[in-house]
Amino acid sequence: MMKFHAITIFPGMFDSYFGESLFRRAAQKGIVSLRTYDLRDFTKERHRKVDDRPFGGGPGMVLQVAPIHAAVHSIEQGIARGAKKRRVRTILFSPRGKKFDAAMARRLSRYDDLILICGRYEGVDERVAEHIADEEVSIGDYVLSGGELPALVLMEAVSRFLPGFLGKEESLEEKNGSFPTYSRPETFYPAAARAGSRPKKKGWAVPKVLLSGDHQKIAEWRRRHGAGA
Ligand code: ADE
Repeated sequence: MMKFHAITIFPGMFDSYFGESLFRRAAQKGIVSLRTYDLRDFTKERHRKVDDRPFGGGPGMVLQVAPIHAAVHSIEQGIARGAKKRRVRTILFSPRGKKFDAAMARRLSRYDDLILICGRYEGVDERVAEHIADEEVSIGDYVLSGGELPALVLMEAVSRFLPGFLGKEESLEEKNGSFPTYSRPETFYPAAARAGSRPKKKGWAVPKVLLSGDHQKIAEWRRRHGAGA
C-alpha cells in the first residue's frame, strides 16, 4: 500500500479529486491512501500563522521552516510506530526542482510512504529544501501559486505504476502508448450537426485503415501515430 501524506494549508483542495476518479476505487482496494495535514495545526503561533516576511527584504511572504519541520517530524513518527520498516521519501514542490517525468514517477512508486510538502505564497524557507526534503520536484517550467496541483499530478502519475491501480482498459492504454483513437460515427458532418440538416459538405472521416478489419495494418498505423513514434 502506497501512503501519500500531503502537507498543505488547503487540505480541502485534495478532497474532490481523491474522493472521485480512480483514486477512490484504489483506496477502497487498499492500493493507495492519502492523508492531508493542515500546516496550521503545526504552528505554535497564536494566530496559526505559518508565513513571515523574507530576510533581506522584498515583496511577499515565505512559508516558515518550523511548522513544516514539525509536520514532517510528526508524520515520520507516525510511520515509525508501525510494525514494518517502511521506505519513506520527502518531496518539496518548487518551480526550481528537478523536472517530473514518467521515470521519476516509476522510481517514486517503489516507496511505501511519500511525504509531499506543498509550498504556497512566494516561497518556502530554503532550509526546507536543504535539510528536510529528500528531493525538490517541479512539474514544469511555469510558476503555480502552490504545490497542491503538483502534488495531485505526482500522486496520479505515481499511482499508475502501482499494481492493480489501473483497470484493464486503462492498462491497455499504458501498454500501447498513446495513439489517436476514433469512435462512431465513421464520418461526422459538423454543419449537419448544427443545423439538423442533411450533410452537404465533406465531413470529418475516420482513417480508412481503422475500419479495414486488417489487424496487422491497424497495429502498424497505431505504431506510426503513437507517442514516441
Ligand atoms: N510550485 C509552484 N510552481 C510549481 C511547479 N511548476 N512545479 C512544482 N511546484 C511548484
